[in-house]
Amino acid sequence: MHRRHAARQERRRKQLEEAVGDLHAVQSLLDLQNEDGASCWPTSDASWVPDWESLPSNLDPACAELSEDEKPGRAQRKRKQLEAMAASIMPFVDRLIEERQQQRVRIVEFGSGTGHLGILIAYLRRESTHVTLVERKDYTCRIAQDRISSLKLDNVQVFCGDIEDYASSRQVFDLGTSLHSCGVLTDLILDLCCSVHASYVLCPCCYGQCSRSENLSRFQRPRSKQFAEVMNEERFSSILSGADYAIGQGDWNFDDCPNFAKAKFCMRIVDADRNLSSERMSCYRTCLRSLNPLNCSPKNNVVVGLHSASCMVLNR
Ligand SMILES: C[S@@+](CC[C@H](N)C(=O)[O-])C[C@H]1O[C@@H](n2cnc3c(N)ncnc32)[C@H](O)[C@@H]1O
Repeated sequence: MHRRHAARQERRRKQLEEAVGDLHAVQSLLDLQNEDGASCWPTSDASWVPDWESLPSNLDPACAELSEDEKPGRAQRKRKQLEAMAASIMPFVDRLIEERQQQRVRIVEFGSGTGHLGILIAYLRRESTHVTLVERKDYTCRIAQDRISSLKLDNVQVFCGDIEDYASSRQVFDLGTSLHSCGVLTDLILDLCCSVHASYVLCPCCYGQCSRSENLSRFQRPRSKQFAEVMNEERFSSILSGADYAIGQGDWNFDDCPNFAKAKFCMRIVDADRNLSSERMSCYRTCLRSLNPLNCSPKNNVVVGLHSASCMVLNR
């Protein structure tokens, strides 16, 4: 059993090495995703880390539906993920508020689950934002709705349905966000943001799902011209699976384990490819960031795109 596992790991490692191939070409594309030199980025700001003790308990995942008894540590990790997302997204929200002056900034959280992130943003900026939560599971939508009602927030609404139904409603918004948008949901969000010229701050997960044949027929990979020049679909599929590389079950100190380094490298390729493709579809400046600390989640990439209209204002 152990030998079979080792052989499988070795096969995957070889597959991955072959897939990455010309490291130099891949690395230079990844370098394009650094934030250096882009003066327009609102920087991550740790002062945005919520002080849970002083916020209503309904905003805190540790007091909401994430029971510590069921999965120890889950609520604490969700707290850390929210803290990291808030540090990344709140400076964007504030700059957009400045841009829109008297009008509310329209924010959509996709795949919102029970709305941890969207409701937090709506609460922190009650006077100047309008937040829509898009989620297809009725059950989690009901929990989100209950939380909104108990917090008496009038600037959040729940759209209970698939992102494609939401897209057909032709709503316009300024900023799209997600926390752990699985598989092609991230691609659907990116395409929708591009079509309405909205900026985005997304944290993807479940990369391997994108390499299923039904998903490859929806989104051809690589998505960008630049990555298509250095790898074909078969190699890119190995990268997608590599991004879900097992990091060791139950080990939350994974951030310095070699398998995590491999997975992170693959995640960066997939998300850089996504960003380069949105730059092509519409006029964006893009970069990749991470949730900090990295061990709040093995899926810790933050994919950022600023639509050019905002770049001009943010450059002032
Ligand atoms: C991994 S969960 C993350 C939930 C939440 N953002 C959080 O961090 O707790 C992904 C969520 O996306 C929702 N989802 C997946 N695909 C979707 C789609 N096409 N349209 C709307 N929601 C979707 C799922 O139902 C699920 O609740």
